[in-house]
Amino acid sequence: MSDMIPSHLFAPPLAAMDGLQFRLVETADFRPLQETCYADKRAALFLDHFEQMMVWQGNGRACWLFIEHNGRLVGSGELIIYPHGAELANLFVVPQYRGRGIGTAMIIVLSRIARHWQLTGLEIGVECQNERALALYRRLGFVDDREVRLPGGETAVILHKTL
Ligand SMILES: CC(C)(COP(=O)(O)OP(=O)(O)OC[C@H]1O[C@@H](n2cnc3c(N)ncnc32)[C@H](O)[C@@H]1OP(=O)(O)O)[C@@H](O)C(=O)NCCC(=O)NCCS
Repeated sequence: MSDMIPSHLFAPPLAAMDGLQFRLVETADFRPLQETCYADKRAALFLDHFEQMMVWQGNGRACWLFIEHNGRLVGSGELIIYPHGAELANLFVVPQYRGRGIGTAMIIVLSRIARHWQLTGLEIGVECQNERALALYRRLGFVDDREVRLPGGETAVILHKTL
């Protein structure tokens, strides 16, 4: 899979903080990712998710970013291709690193990779009450497309960006 993504696409955007590094998730990242970025997901569900994502990443259907600052895990995020389109999912930055441009940099890197894969658009879904994430996505050019009701009863908005 790494052969399918040229290394320069992982370079941090110029405005990003010093010491930031982006790379693909590897098998050895299971535990730190689970403990740091997916702590709210049940263990069995995360195991299924991890295995599925590694298969998809291996066959070029997904890109799972592992973000480090001076060697320490600070966030992760997924780009997944579906038959009807592609989406960004499970974007996460550890709380003490939020508000420093890492989420923005992650979306820029994932969008570069999406363009490299010749995808023409990206979707991202966010709960309506997550105003900060919603504002971030709108600021980066995502436009509200539709609302959906989640299994728990909450409403989420699906945003779209043409690449
Ligand atoms: C949503 C999320 C991924 C954004 O990551 P982030 O690293 O905080 O995002 P950014 O720093 O790029 O942008 C967020 C804010 O920081 C500001 N900012 C951007 N670059 C900055 C910088 N260099 N220095 C200081 N602030 C900066 C932005 O203007 C923005 O302002 P806000 O306070 O109005 O939101 C993160 O908040 C998160 O993990 N949230 C919990 C999980 C979640 O809700 N995920 C999204 C599900 S759809």
